[in-house]
Amino acid sequence: MEPTHRSMPRLRLAVPADAAEVAAIYSPFCVETAVSFETTAPDEGQMRERISSLMQRYPWLVAVSETGDVLGYAYAGKHRERAAYRWSVDFTAYLGPEAKRRGIGTALYRALMKICQSLGYCRAFAGITLPNEASIRLHEKIGFRAIGVYRRVGFKLGRWHDVGWWSLDLLSEEDAPTEPKSIAEIVASGELKEILEGEGRTGKPAQVARETRQAGFEPRFADGA
Ligand SMILES: CC(C)(COP(=O)(O)OP(=O)(O)OC[C@H]1O[C@@H](n2cnc3c(N)ncnc32)[C@H](O)[C@@H]1OP(=O)(O)O)[C@@H](O)C(=O)NCCC(=O)NCCS
Repeated sequence: MEPTHRSMPRLRLAVPADAAEVAAIYSPFCVETAVSFETTAPDEGQMRERISSLMQRYPWLVAVSETGDVLGYAYAGKHRERAAYRWSVDFTAYLGPEAKRRGIGTALYRALMKICQSLGYCRAFAGITLPNEASIRLHEKIGFRAIGVYRRVGFKLGRWHDVGWWSLDLLSEEDAPTEPKSIAEIVASGELKEILEGEGRTGKPAQVARETRQAGFEPRFADGA
């Protein structure tokens, strides 16, 4: 059954202060599984640094409970370094054990997809260590299609792992790309708020404004001032 709008947690941009909770969600996937190919889990400080640097140009969302706890997160990061790749992003999502299978991954991904479209990214990719039925279902529900498998590409926890790749066209392939916008621009234009309101419960306007400021996205950055 499709979860109701009311049962959805609130979605917002991550802030550096979320680092401890985000690191706690991510850590078991580094240490106990091959879902992530990292073998040492980043600590709170490293996660704070990741959030701060990624969010200069890419969206990182968290889903938060009524009491403000981080239930899970999703972000879009750079696909590869070289310049011609700059319209391509990699999606990923991690939820805490209590948050799974409640439609939260879907809500985070729908919002992430719309934000990336609004920023001007054209292609999204996802690498999934196989097997991972939950992740494959989530990606395919959003519209990702399987494009291939890297066989035995990672060795972790005593064995080789395959990684399947999925891709999604965010903008039509006929569209000539324009330079991706910054997060600050879509905060200032109101697009970000509209997207987050559409996919999850939002906080009161003052709370959203405060969290946006905490993330360092003052509207004055939007016009380059
Ligand atoms: C993958 C993950 C983010 C999915 O988020 P989620 O909130 O549980 O997913 P949703 O509830 O939005 O469900 C999305 C779809 O996947 C399906 N699904 C979710 N968990 C599933 C599972 N364990 N087995 C089979 N299908 C599953 C749902 O039924 C739904 O499909 P439907 O609407 O067609 O029925 C979550 O399971 C998770 O954090 N897993 C551990 C970390 C991970 O693997 N991250 C991905 C790294 S590539």
